Amino acid sequence: MKIHEYQGKQLLKKFGVTVPRGIHCTTVDDAVKAAETLGGKVWVVKAQIHAGGRGKGGGVKVATSLEKVREYASQILGMQLITHQTGPEGQKVRHLLIEEGADIQHEYYVAALTDRATQSVAIMASYEGGMDIEEVAHKTPEKIVKVFVNPLVGLTDAQGLELAKGMGMQEASIPQCIDTLKKLYTCYMETDASLAEINPLIHEGDGTVKAIDAKFNFDSNALYRQEEIVAMRDLDEEDADEIEASKFDLAYISLDGNIGCLVNGAGLAMATMDTIKLFGAEPANFLDVGGGATTEKVTEAFKIM
Ligand SMILES: Nc1ncnc2c1ncn2[C@@H]1O[C@H](COP(=O)(O)OP(=O)(O)OP(=O)(O)O)[C@@H](O)[C@H]1O
Ligand SMILES: [Mg+2]
Repeated sequence: MKIHEYQGKQLLKKFGVTVPRGIHCTTVDDAVKAAETLGGKVWVVKAQIHAGGRGKGGGVKVATSLEKVREYASQILGMQLITHQTGPEGQKVRHLLIEEGADIQHEYYVAALTDRATQSVAIMASYEGGMDIEEVAHKTPEKIVKVFVNPLVGLTDAQGLELAKGMGMQEASIPQCIDTLKKLYTCYMETDASLAEINPLIHEGDGTVKAIDAKFNFDSNALYRQEEIVAMRDLDEEDADEIEASKFDLAYISLDGNIGCLVNGAGLAMATMDTIKLFGAEPANFLDVGGGATTEKVTEAFKIM
């Protein structure tokens, strides 16, 4: 399960990570009021959708007057925001985050994620943060430093230092950077996240280390014990068929092809999809009705297909 940036920042803040002051809103008038409440001279108007790549798609704009806040909020709210993660039809923007402008001196990348290869939590960091991190990961992976956390010990000071140095954090901000990494790890663990990414993490002119973006994924198998996270769910951002399927406890993922699959058991479902692809066609979905499937479940599965 995913959440919006403004919610991710609430979580980070709760765990002690410094974030810009910001206000979530859903109308243009409230966006202008939010900017007035925040005060200052620079605001950032940010589209809140679950897909990444918002800035490049025109969903993040810096405003230097209240008139500009109004103009950008009107442009962004209600638009179909197209990014490399939304597909060609884009995703409708229903929420905005109005935030104080940060004094960005440099943009770094940090993330906590579950590393399947080592079966541990990895913390990654890079000097090359910002909107092109995908390209960095692809072309120059050596620019990303990684440590693996022993769950019995947590992220140690030595590991924090290794990351802070490895990501090229300026000397004066290293203590706060290590502190931020530890808090990110704690937040990741306590919320049962499978990804917690801050891109960019910045340092400001006065040395403050701040999270400028926040992206979270949560392990759906742990949601039963994460009431606060579940309350952040935004069904508007999710695939309607997948929501319907989850009500009946069906493992269903929408795909782009045109051959429907209804399969009993995840392994066989994967093999079926592979077979379809082997013969040059594309599956329309992944669907595992599960071992204990009842008549009702199979009926619902057929309806969704
Ligand atoms: N509060 C802020 N103050 C100053 N600049 C900001 C602020 N928020 C965002 N920016 C600038 O806008 C860029 C894009 O913002 P952000 O990282 O939140 O979105 P994104 O990375 O495009 O979105 P996504 O996470 O969907 O890929 C940042 O890298 C930063 O340069
Ligand atoms: Mg970002």
